[in-house]
Amino acid sequence: MAPSFVALSLFILQSFLFSSSSSELHRFDHPAKKDGSLSLLVVGDWGRKGLYNQSQVAEKMGEIGKELDIDFVISTGDNFYENGLTGVDDTAFEESFANIFTAEGLQKQWYAVLGNHDYRGDVLSQLSPILQTIDSRWLCLRSFILHAEIADFIFVDTTPFVVKYWTQSEGHLYDWREVSPREQYIDNLLKELNEALIESRAPWKFVVGHHTMRSVSEHGDTEELLENLLPILKENGVDLYINGHDHCLQHISSRDSSLHYLTSGGGSKAWRGIYIPNDDKLQFFYDGQGFLSMQLTKTSVTTVFNDAFGQALHELSLTKQFLNYL
Ligand SMILES: *[C@@H]1O[C@H](CO)[C@@H](O)[C@H](O)[C@H]1NC(C)=O
Repeated sequence: MAPSFVALSLFILQSFLFSSSSSELHRFDHPAKKDGSLSLLVVGDWGRKGLYNQSQVAEKMGEIGKELDIDFVISTGDNFYENGLTGVDDTAFEESFANIFTAEGLQKQWYAVLGNHDYRGDVLSQLSPILQTIDSRWLCLRSFILHAEIADFIFVDTTPFVVKYWTQSEGHLYDWREVSPREQYIDNLLKELNEALIESRAPWKFVVGHHTMRSVSEHGDTEELLENLLPILKENGVDLYINGHDHCLQHISSRDSSLHYLTSGGGSKAWRGIYIPNDDKLQFFYDGQGFLSMQLTKTSVTTVFNDAFGQALHELSLTKQFLNYL
């Protein structure tokens, strides 16, 4: 059987198997290690054919990925600059992904969301299972749930939330096929995310999206997310919101909840030189390239912010007791 047929059949089978859930969101299971722990990397805003230190970041991700024996990699979007992919045959897929993240330590499943730059290309091709026949690590969906035993990762398609992409596109064409009309898409998505979070029984709940919630860098906060998505995260005790969009690394903690906002958007072009404080608590800000590494157990999370040399710059450690999960 041709690999493309196998990949396609698996994809269809997955869609079929999970369609009976109360939420329409795709669900995937990723097993934890035998000892119940999990480790992973998070990178965002990277696809520049190795330029702007993308290759350097990839090399260090490979080293740390191997050291931690990571289970998977998360991409927070803006996977292919400047305008996503033109089709499933766009060689940017190889030039920015397959031929860059070649290290042994990165030969794991990737889970990706779309960024605003990806929406400027042919979105359906970036979501297409045909890409898995070129590089089997690739999995990009708009919004989906990843059950990784000790943690549920809820991936959210944040680009459609942002009103300005719909109203003042500044000469850019956004591919809203299967998204438009905006209101209906967002209402439905918020409902599904809320249901998924209510149903979640994992010790840790992480939400991953492209756009910032809180950011002291160039793009600042994304008002639409603060208004529509943040209340759902706070109500459901989400531990981390992890995003890209701003090309830096940052850690901000919420003043009125236990939520932490982590930006991992340092996959390539960085050094914007912009710092705009907000009224949540800034714990760490690095304006350059890098990525996050995370190690989880049922009761602890350690997140390290690494620069392009693999140097640890900042660490966030959380612990919890889970008596009711026994
Ligand atoms: C690459 O990384 C180094 C070290 O952080 C930095 O000095 C340099 O400006 C970066 N290059 C680009 C193009 O961002």
